[in-house]
Amino acid sequence: MYSQVLFALMGAVASQTTSGTPTNQSITASAAYNGSTTPSPTSPILQLNLNLEDVWDLLIGPVAVANTTTTYSPTPVPSSSLIPPPPLYYSPFPTGQQVPLTPKNESWSFPSDFWWGVAGAAFQIEGAAKDEGRGPSVWDALTRVTNHIVDNSTADVADNNYYMYKEDISRLAAQGVKIYSFSLSWSRILPFGRGPVNQQAIDHYNDLINTCIEYGVEPSVTLYHWDTPLVLQDTYGGWLSEDIVPDFVEYARIAFEAFGDRVSKWYTVNEPIVFCNQYPLPAQYFKNFTIPNKQQPFHCGQSVLLAHSQAYHVGKSILGDHSSITYKNNGGYKIPLTNSSADAQAVQRAWDFNEGWFSDPVYLTGDYPESVKEYVSGFLRDFTDEEKQQILGSSDFYAHDAYTAQFYMAPDSGLDSCIGNVTHPLYPSCANTTYTYSAEDGGWVIGPAADPGSPWLHKATDWVPAFLKYMQDTWVTPSPGPVKGVAVTEFGFAEPFEGSKTLLQDILYDAVRTSYYHDYMEAILMAIAEGTDVVGCLAWSFVDNFEWQQGYASRFGMQYVNFSDPALPRYYKASFFEYINAFKIYGSEGGD
Ligand code: BGC
Repeated sequence: MYSQVLFALMGAVASQTTSGTPTNQSITASAAYNGSTTPSPTSPILQLNLNLEDVWDLLIGPVAVANTTTTYSPTPVPSSSLIPPPPLYYSPFPTGQQVPLTPKNESWSFPSDFWWGVAGAAFQIEGAAKDEGRGPSVWDALTRVTNHIVDNSTADVADNNYYMYKEDISRLAAQGVKIYSFSLSWSRILPFGRGPVNQQAIDHYNDLINTCIEYGVEPSVTLYHWDTPLVLQDTYGGWLSEDIVPDFVEYARIAFEAFGDRVSKWYTVNEPIVFCNQYPLPAQYFKNFTIPNKQQPFHCGQSVLLAHSQAYHVGKSILGDHSSITYKNNGGYKIPLTNSSADAQAVQRAWDFNEGWFSDPVYLTGDYPESVKEYVSGFLRDFTDEEKQQILGSSDFYAHDAYTAQFYMAPDSGLDSCIGNVTHPLYPSCANTTYTYSAEDGGWVIGPAADPGSPWLHKATDWVPAFLKYMQDTWVTPSPGPVKGVAVTEFGFAEPFEGSKTLLQDILYDAVRTSYYHDYMEAILMAIAEGTDVVGCLAWSFVDNFEWQQGYASRFGMQYVNFSDPALPRYYKASFFEYINAFKIYGSEGGD
């Protein structure tokens, strides 16, 4: 569709001229008809007036609908579903039901204010793509790009969590989960990204939050988990343009005001390193830009830092100091492959161009790390002093999605061959990576691999204490801001080949993921015992879901979902029990 008609939506969102039900809301758009040729700025412009239904029809096309499209009452969890699995080959955390083979390690415990729970994200679980006034996001469009998703699936229905949230929350409560961390769909609340607010979305999230509270589960909110409203993407390029900053801040204000009385832990954006590196988006499906590909992620990053920091200050003024606001970093621990100085330099550049890109401005200086600054100053404007002041200190704790670890080294041709050489494939970070130890160290992989659909992920839990200490020493302790400790806001594992298993009971016994959670929790306990201020953790994910480009092929859920069954039933996997046990044994309510 985009190859024939490219809609350059002009963003004249008619909030003043429209009101009422979401389908009455409209935007003024221009359409450039290009026939079969590549779109160009000289193409003729056609003015259109589009309502929400038109936007869906023109930009997305047909959308699948779930079997159940009314709010589903929770089925009580039978006590037989809460019996833990038999132990793995290693000694499990003692469970009470099982005969403990290892005594509790008395030097470990979670501090009484340690918070923990599970996480998910709107686009990956909600479904109800077009229902109750939701507007499309970039991911609704990306799921229509042929072969962009490995199984060519969509998230039109996904887990149908939009209607099954009560069931989901009751299943978390039955296991004693303390926090449910979810994201809001920006284009559900503001179907065009800005302009008219969709009251049905506000009502929905209100009920979701109230249901959490009713079940004794603390709701925690991420404002943005990659699902940019499509209209904003097509209007000005989404995060490529600083135009997104006021739109995001307004969206954040609406959410803080609507839900801030019941939600105290807030995340503005999830993993900007990942979503900024998704630029450039596939050509012909979105508004095209002349910004060189390798510069696009950094334009996005600049908008994110401005949007995050402004939203932080708006949030603080609405919520007051009893609430915390931060954003979620991500990336694996970076281990030098050898002890050469070139590898040490490569590791530093890797930190700079990943975590440091966002963390140095927020936690250390108000501006990019030197190596990043040197690169971006060729094409990005400098932050003003006022902006730097707003960015520095705009976080209440250091949140990191810390799944794994990797080795880093200088390029084979040496660092100098890359730094300053735009044509080098590793430019601009110039850090090379590998999952295997050096040949001298045996050439082994760092730890068991996850599903082949998630090749970036290995179980490397031995490195977690060092990783947590690195974040504390690098960004938390030296920060002049009010940062309270480090939290692991996502960690989890895609069980290898889980998607090809057919027997339910085999799927539920997810041995590698279970050992990942066991060892990860031990690692957090060790880090705490060694003096790192780890304040909380959230496991990813509470349920199988739409895993972005992997569709439903690669799974991260601690609950299995049978996506072939229209009722989408959920079942706890063994890993769920292992995760929970860590808190039963070492939490403040833990046994002796
Ligand atoms: C993302 C999730 C994703 C998970 C597994 C995290 O980085 O925030 O959305 O599903 O990784 O790939």
